[in-house]
Amino acid sequence: MTDIGVIGGAGYVGLVTSVAFAALGHKVTSMDLDISRIRMLKTGASAVYEEGLEPILGELLAQGRITFTHDQYQAVQDSDAVFIAVGTPSLADGRADMSAVIDVAENLRDQIHKYTVIVIKSTVPVGAINVISEILRQKLTEGEDFDVVSNPEFLREGSGLIDFFSPSRIIIGAASDRAFEVLRDIYKPLRKGKVVVDVPWIDSDREIPYVETDVTSAQLTKYAANAFLATRISFINEIAGLSEKVGGNIEDIVLGLGFDPRIGSSYLEPGIGFGGPCLDKDLRALITIAGENSYDPVMFQGVLQRNELQLREVMNKIVRALGSSLYGKRIALLGLAFKEGTNDVRHSLSIRLYRALRDQGASVAGHDFLAVQEAIEIEPDLEATSDPETAIKGADVVVVLNSEVSYSEIDWRSLVSGGISPYVIDTRGILDVDVLSASEITFYVQGSSL
Ligand code: UGA
Repeated sequence: MTDIGVIGGAGYVGLVTSVAFAALGHKVTSMDLDISRIRMLKTGASAVYEEGLEPILGELLAQGRITFTHDQYQAVQDSDAVFIAVGTPSLADGRADMSAVIDVAENLRDQIHKYTVIVIKSTVPVGAINVISEILRQKLTEGEDFDVVSNPEFLREGSGLIDFFSPSRIIIGAASDRAFEVLRDIYKPLRKGKVVVDVPWIDSDREIPYVETDVTSAQLTKYAANAFLATRISFINEIAGLSEKVGGNIEDIVLGLGFDPRIGSSYLEPGIGFGGPCLDKDLRALITIAGENSYDPVMFQGVLQRNELQLREVMNKIVRALGSSLYGKRIALLGLAFKEGTNDVRHSLSIRLYRALRDQGASVAGHDFLAVQEAIEIEPDLEATSDPETAIKGADVVVVLNSEVSYSEIDWRSLVSGGISPYVIDTRGILDVDVLSASEITFYVQGSSL
């Protein structure tokens, strides 16, 4: 068992990390400056939505395996390893905002009083780890009092626990054997499939790839992973646009591509583009890192450009469907969060679409199963509901923006028989076109010449 402190423990990454390490049998003290979130977590309630989290958290709290605090010292004082999982949002120039990480490091400098491994979970620019080490070195000796390690996370929001307990790989970047050893101990129970509470996703028969490397390579692996996922999405969006022009069917094209094991079929769902706090931010940070190192990132720039174009394409489709101006027209947006299965609206392209429609005089009704509250917080004038049919009622155009399966289960036939017949734009190709055709609904599926 290792004593672990987590800084930024109320955010998506920090919370999943805290809960998961406690479930592996470690003693976890999880700290966050957000006092109201910490107060909720002490009672077993989470402000961020993660599938399966609350029951596991409740059990861990009952067993006294996890403590929440807003005092950083409490999370550091007895810990053998301190995980930093605070946010690094994009600055206007594309660089990652390191101020929260630097604040944490400055506090740590005065709080560490025995050998402690500082583990960077936040995605920080290459070179930032040296900045953190320098701050700590002002008072402490590297290698003797502390080591700084990079352990990038590959957790998808909403399914973070699933990804933690069933990881495709674990990456550790460090400069000393002592630090590697601490991390090996921390991950040993996961690699052996051992947990202290009931976790449905653990598979003790599967060997989890474990890569030990230098700090820079570990960091770059994380950036490369997100850049690659973003590239696949922009790639398929570009193919989908072309498919439409020449009369193809993107669903069949993806099927055909996916059978090639060198290509596979994941992250090939066309749509309005990639949103959320990670893919776009990391790609922009990578472009900045390249620029700072006199390297021309032509491909990453193309991936971003295609992503920006997607929103405009959806907008054009709406205008074309209405035949004229958007003024006074009613548009329903199905899906407000940046994807299905999360309540996170950061960098949500649906919210950007809402703003563009509103600015052109349309009235917009938005639907989401999890993110109504969060959407209204950032857009107080948005009419948002958690009932899709309420959003659809009276709409001239309905736009399906994510892959939420419930949208395919809407009873479109009965909607039409009730006198409602909107133009449906399915950006994700998830609706049953036979049902739509039989209901005589006019519709458009992105990437297909239907
Ligand atoms: C992403 C990565 O998938 C995680 O591995 C990584 O750890 C995380 O970023 C991070 O850096 O913290 P996440 O941001 O939760 O996870 O979102 P994804 O599920 O990857 O989706 C990103 C966006 O791409 C969403 O807007 C989604 O709708 C879109 N997407 C995804 C598509 O348009 N098509 C697809 O085929 C897949």
